[in-house]
Amino acid sequence: MNVENHYIKEVDPRGVVTITLNRPEIHNAFNDQIINDLTREFQSLDSDDSCRMVVLTGAGKSFCAGADLNWMKGMANYSDDENIEDSRRLSGLFETINKCRKPVLAKVNGAALGGGTGLIACCDFVMACKSAKFGFTEVRLGLLPAVISPFVMAKIGESNARAWFLSGERFDATVALQIGLVHQVVPLDDLETSMSRMIEKFLLAGPMAACEAKKLVMNVLKFKNENPSEVTEYTCQTISRIRTSPEGQEGMGALLEKRKPNWVES
Ligand code: COA
Repeated sequence: MNVENHYIKEVDPRGVVTITLNRPEIHNAFNDQIINDLTREFQSLDSDDSCRMVVLTGAGKSFCAGADLNWMKGMANYSDDENIEDSRRLSGLFETINKCRKPVLAKVNGAALGGGTGLIACCDFVMACKSAKFGFTEVRLGLLPAVISPFVMAKIGESNARAWFLSGERFDATVALQIGLVHQVVPLDDLETSMSRMIEKFLLAGPMAACEAKKLVMNVLKFKNENPSEVTEYTCQTISRIRTSPEGQEGMGALLEKRKPNWVES
């Protein structure tokens, strides 16, 4: 176990890296130091071949209460340039998690509010306990969910963003599931077991294929927005490259030969 200031990093022999936000006394709210450290951590995991996936969770009874309001309030003493620079670093954290090549799973053990909801919007799979609460509470503090909005809106769409961003009302895990922020809801007592089971399912995917599948989703969206006529060419080139790759050949061979592929423990 590696304790990096305000988060704990655990690496298991399968390459599953768990990052636990660890400021339980203030519900894992994040400040500039955590933003910088976590950004660097995710950048390094992105290029670390021994890491197959990342699980993000929180210590104590909450997942993350968003930005540390003491830190945010202190911005009034920053220059305009410092203030903007600081917002860019916050955006950089969300961008880095969102674009991380490896699958990123969130294990939501309690409240995920403001930037905490933003964090889960950047994850590929989100499992929440039934008692978790969510919300874009910023407007109730005279603030806005500005930096997280692109990531959140990609998950919940315009209609839900308008309803929940404008009201700042908190909502439960069932609503989070309905609007696409969360993928599975389980009782708190089952969270560990259910997440372990889900991790095992993710580990059945070829390590390269899982990363490529994420890239596929991102690139198809980008092409559709910027260059729709090239989507088909891109998808055809992608499958041509992947099906002739060593991992693609091994995966198909394993199924045909009724054996496990070489990335699955026998
Ligand atoms: N930043 C800084 N401190 C925070 C915080 C945040 N985002 N969220 C909670 N805290 C602090 C509280 O001020 C309190 O400090 P204290 O012990 O010095 O009084 C401590 O964490 C415990 O919080 P408390 O509200 O007493 O715990 P709770 O279990 O009743 O409620 C929450 C937990 C997370 C539901 C509640 O604290 C909350 O709603 N926080 C605000 C979250 C939010 O709106 N975030 C968006 C920020 S943009």
